[in-house]
Amino acid sequence: MELCFATNNEHKLEEVAAKLGGAFTLKTLLDIGCTDELPETSGTIPGNSRQKADYVWTHFGVSCFADDSGLEVEALHGEPGVDSAHYSGSRNHAQNIQKLLANLANEKNRKARFVTVFTLVLHGVEHQFEGVVNGQILHEPQGTGGFGYDPIFLPDGHDQTFAQMTIDEKGLISHRAQALTKMIVYLTKQIK
Ligand code: IMP
Repeated sequence: MELCFATNNEHKLEEVAAKLGGAFTLKTLLDIGCTDELPETSGTIPGNSRQKADYVWTHFGVSCFADDSGLEVEALHGEPGVDSAHYSGSRNHAQNIQKLLANLANEKNRKARFVTVFTLVLHGVEHQFEGVVNGQILHEPQGTGGFGYDPIFLPDGHDQTFAQMTIDEKGLISHRAQALTKMIVYLTKQIK
């Protein structure tokens, strides 16, 4: 079965292709002739995920899936959330971290969660799959791996930030991995 992953992120494509297995032929946006910028204007993580998948289905008629993720900080009422990628006004990870830490200065409640929502549109029928990992925001960055907010995120039950873990260690518990696993379980049932 052919499925398009509505992303331009090579790293995500590789990760998903490795987990999907041989029953699916993963197509990129370029493979299906889509060079359009996908809409991400809904104001929520599930909404943006849905917008991207719906766009590909509506304009290209290809079964597909899209993801959207973000970091939600309890004391900041869910910020940066859907604005995670450009929280500081730029896409610079260090500046985004700096702004978050400044906004949390003197804040005792450091609870946060990473969320990913995958939206699958299979022959026009939509399903969403959510992955969540709870944790705490540290007072300063620790570790050099990963990306985004990884250096300041300590997942619950662990003594290393996402940036101190190997890719494989993070991949066992991450929000993205959890949502992806749910989607693959669903997809696998569909082809049996
Ligand atoms: P995306 O929707 O997966 O591209 O994620 C949007 C933004 O959320 C990223 O640019 C990061 O700032 C943040 N983010 C999402 N997932 C992670 C993660 O696993 N670690 C750190 N930051 C993340």
